[in-house]
Amino acid sequence: MRVDAVTLFPEMIDRPLSESIVGRARTEGFLELGFVNPRDFTEDRHRTVDDKPYGGGTGMVMMAEPVYRALKKVRKKNSFVILLTPKGRRFDQAAALELAEKKHLVFICGHYEGIDERVTPLADMELSIGDYVLTGGEPAAVVVIDAVARLIPGVLKKDDATVNETFTGGLLEAPHYTRPGVWRGKAVPPALLSGNHKLIAEWRSGTARELTAKERPDLAGPVPAEKKPGGRSKGFKK
Ligand code: ADE
Repeated sequence: MRVDAVTLFPEMIDRPLSESIVGRARTEGFLELGFVNPRDFTEDRHRTVDDKPYGGGTGMVMMAEPVYRALKKVRKKNSFVILLTPKGRRFDQAAALELAEKKHLVFICGHYEGIDERVTPLADMELSIGDYVLTGGEPAAVVVIDAVARLIPGVLKKDDATVNETFTGGLLEAPHYTRPGVWRGKAVPPALLSGNHKLIAEWRSGTARELTAKERPDLAGPVPAEKKPGGRSKGFKK
């Protein structure tokens, strides 16, 4: 998969996504990540990318033209363009699965008070990572790219690591334990030490159901099969 980010601060995305699993996905070629900076598409001496808001108010607003030109540089016929904004659709595992089907994602990251509203129609979707306001779209892009990258076939060593996990089945995942069997007086649940695969599977699904009912009763239940990786994607404009 190819991902490009339109951002004034490429390092805010590049650095965190150079480590660990996503870093390896990049070096192994599962994920190609590129950046395009609206500042490189300005024409004035100061390379101005923002201006005061019409109607007054605090902060600065990113101007439409440099963002438009930067996007034009990377957008192709099959690109899916995502504008990161707190007013977007809430990002969740179902959205990650849908985005993982795309060939090319382009993220537009606002900064300061946001981007001139007239760029919004250039995006296929507006996306928010939660009901809080960040300093810009860059940390949100990191979250979304991370969640999508691990769904690309081959990125996780065991592809079924994404099948049983929290949210993909519409439930929170049962807790994990490793050695020692007893740690500071706390024992691992006996079912996990039984070596009986059926018993272990039953313990995990029962515990997942109980945990979800207690902590997240709002979770809807299993994600339909067509939204799993390799299935059809739904619910997007393109
Ligand atoms: N930009 C600022 N806050 C954001 C959020 N919560 N999600 C996505 N982009 C944002």
